[in-house]
Amino acid sequence: MKTNRRNFLKVAGLAGVGLAGAGGAAAAATGPVPPGSTRRASTQPRFNMWGYAAPRLDKVRIGQLGIGGRGGSALARLPRIEGVEMRALCDLLPERAAGGAERLQKMKHPVVPQLYSGKEDAWKRVCERDDIDLVYITAPWQLHAPMAIHAMNHGKHAVMEVPGVLTVEECWQIVETSEKTRRHCMLLSNTCYDFFELLTLNMARQGFFGELIHGEGAYLHTFTFDPSRKQKTWRLQENIRRNGNLYPTHGMGPVCQALDINCGDRLDYLVSMQSDDFMMRKALESAAAKDDFWQPFAAEASRGHRGNMNVTTIRTVRGRTILQQHDITSEQPYSRLHKLSGTKAVAMKYPEPPRIAVEHKRWLNEKEMKALEEKYTPEIVRRIGEMAKKVGGHGGMDFMMDWRLIDCLRNGLPLDMNVYDAASWSVIQPLSEWSVANRSAAVDIPDFTQGAWKTNRPGMDINLTRGGNTPAI
Ligand SMILES: NC(=O)c1ccc[n+]([C@@H]2O[C@H](COP(=O)([O-])OP(=O)(O)OC[C@H]3O[C@@H](n4cnc5c(N)ncnc54)[C@H](O)[C@@H]3O)[C@@H](O)[C@H]2O)c1
Repeated sequence: MKTNRRNFLKVAGLAGVGLAGAGGAAAAATGPVPPGSTRRASTQPRFNMWGYAAPRLDKVRIGQLGIGGRGGSALARLPRIEGVEMRALCDLLPERAAGGAERLQKMKHPVVPQLYSGKEDAWKRVCERDDIDLVYITAPWQLHAPMAIHAMNHGKHAVMEVPGVLTVEECWQIVETSEKTRRHCMLLSNTCYDFFELLTLNMARQGFFGELIHGEGAYLHTFTFDPSRKQKTWRLQENIRRNGNLYPTHGMGPVCQALDINCGDRLDYLVSMQSDDFMMRKALESAAAKDDFWQPFAAEASRGHRGNMNVTTIRTVRGRTILQQHDITSEQPYSRLHKLSGTKAVAMKYPEPPRIAVEHKRWLNEKEMKALEEKYTPEIVRRIGEMAKKVGGHGGMDFMMDWRLIDCLRNGLPLDMNVYDAASWSVIQPLSEWSVANRSAAVDIPDFTQGAWKTNRPGMDINLTRGGNTPAI
């Protein structure tokens, strides 16, 4: 059945999905139609942001929102890219904004940023300044959509941390705002820039795998309840309160890039299933026995139906399949799976070391892997990979992402990832929640490109056919 934006919601009964956002989404997946959720059909003439290049910027003047763990590490990377000026730093907590400024001073950053803090909505003033080009969002999840939308409405490009926005409605809102304002809205999907993911994307594009049939991704690791995590209880609360794939973008990004999602194929529907909780309640009860701080969390974990492992399967309109897993509460080594299966070959990143098999006979040996690496390493890695490893940030992928973002803005090029990617990868979160709450019923995935996926050309320019000339310092 053909699904437009309005009847998509009716068919899926999705109007209630996830709209309560972070920390309040527990009942969202089964709730009645919430106010505002029927506002779907765009009345604006549509502008396709895929491949859109905004006017080039000589300098990229940045306002950063949220200077916590992730925000602090971005501050160690961004000033190392020529043309970046950190003009404003905002955090609810004044000491964090000040700490960010100190960090910049130590790095001898030529600009002294203005600091914003103390009020929940101080970030709005950053978006409203007239000397900022890019709003870089490293705040908690529920702030991503309001921040990105306010930034775009005030003429700024917006980039936001994973897992992007939280509801189906927010996905449409970022798409519509980006199209209306012609400002970029990009998800900071760093895993798309990890070394093996870039290698396999290049191989996929050159036909090494034959036709890709299936991709797998995941976010699997262990959340611990140590005292240092007291700062970050918002993230724990999300996992206590909600069932679904709460962090789909790390796995989705690289797989969707390889499968040409939104540029040759698109996500059609998904089915999601969740295990019971075999870990979280026990872990929180034992933490609460040692430290009262964890009591309310343990109490909350003993209610409701949260679980550990989420398994979501997606079918594309071209008949390919994607598996995504999410579990950050049981004992396991870190994994994002990153498996690509094709008619001629298969690649699998985890468990490390990554491996590749040709014609499904055997995994290639070290020498054969090296030869593939030499042949298929894309230009972005050849040009900036070593520098990225030195600067760091998850082994270098974070820096490569930032560098290419700034490089595209300075050269007036389309960004490697766009608002349709952000919406399509984010939406797995609320849709998987809805499916879990409805005995794994299948749910349609909206076509945020509204048909343009059939003619859009693949976006991520990993061979730097244009640009690539921004020095890193
Ligand atoms: N891409 C990755 O590999 C990666 C890794 C870690 C975190 N993240 C993402 O980064 C984002 C931030 O996570 P984190 O670990 O840094 O969290 P954090 O809690 O350490 O930092 C968030 C910061 O936002 C601030 N903040 C909260 N409300 C605010 C408001 N109203 N205005 C301004 N600032 C506000 C907090 O004070 C805090 O300093 C999340 O989306 C998370 O999922 C991504």
